[in-house]
Amino acid sequence: MLKLGVNVDHVATVREARKVSYPNPLDAAIICENLGAFGITAHLREDRRHINDNDLKNLCANIKRVNMEMAATEEMVKIAQELKPYSSCLVPEKREELTTEGGLNVAGNFDWITECVQKLQKSEIIVSLFIDPDKEQIKAAKDTGAEYIELHTGKFCDTIGNERQNELERLITGAIYANKLGLKVNAGHGIHYENVKDILLIPHLLELNIGHSIISRAVIVGMNQAVQEMLDLLK
Ligand code: PXP
Repeated sequence: MLKLGVNVDHVATVREARKVSYPNPLDAAIICENLGAFGITAHLREDRRHINDNDLKNLCANIKRVNMEMAATEEMVKIAQELKPYSSCLVPEKREELTTEGGLNVAGNFDWITECVQKLQKSEIIVSLFIDPDKEQIKAAKDTGAEYIELHTGKFCDTIGNERQNELERLITGAIYANKLGLKVNAGHGIHYENVKDILLIPHLLELNIGHSIISRAVIVGMNQAVQEMLDLLK
């Protein structure tokens, strides 16, 4: 069975919509862990728009396997070295984007990415690189010494028809190539309850990182209890 990493960023997004103290991403993470999720992913963005430093600190202190999504910057490497998450996934980051767009350009920033990978590994943090299913990027990822890649499934999840089919084929070819090079292969971005069955067609996958769809579903399926508890308090 594939391992599940639950991304809890959007629990913090709900909190930040009001700048209050709830909901706490750690509370959600504990439920996920107790249910058998392999790990908890959190993206500490440069602008701290959802997860903040304190969230990440609490997650690392209380959750077995925290996967820190992070830009390849000196600031983030330093924070990872201090907090020592179980793993880290290097992602590209732009301030103006709604969510991570496109994979990391490992081939184009090879020396710096390699330096980040080495620093993180020296701190005994497993490193993954979030990349598009592109041969050049996969080879470059291998050459950095990273143990894992996470294939960016966003384009597959966002397209329809022939384009979607082509993207799926690119993901399958990419996963086979990465496996041949000895890389371990994860995948993530845009995966939801309907498209996940197609994602399972990609070979050699070890773990899926899923965030937005799970948090969205939790809002709906958790509504029953949330309203009932408030009604009970009003009695
Ligand atoms: N993997 C990576 C590297 C990501 O940047 C994200 C989004 O933060 C995810 C997985 C999860 O994507 P989604 O929220 O669409 O499930």
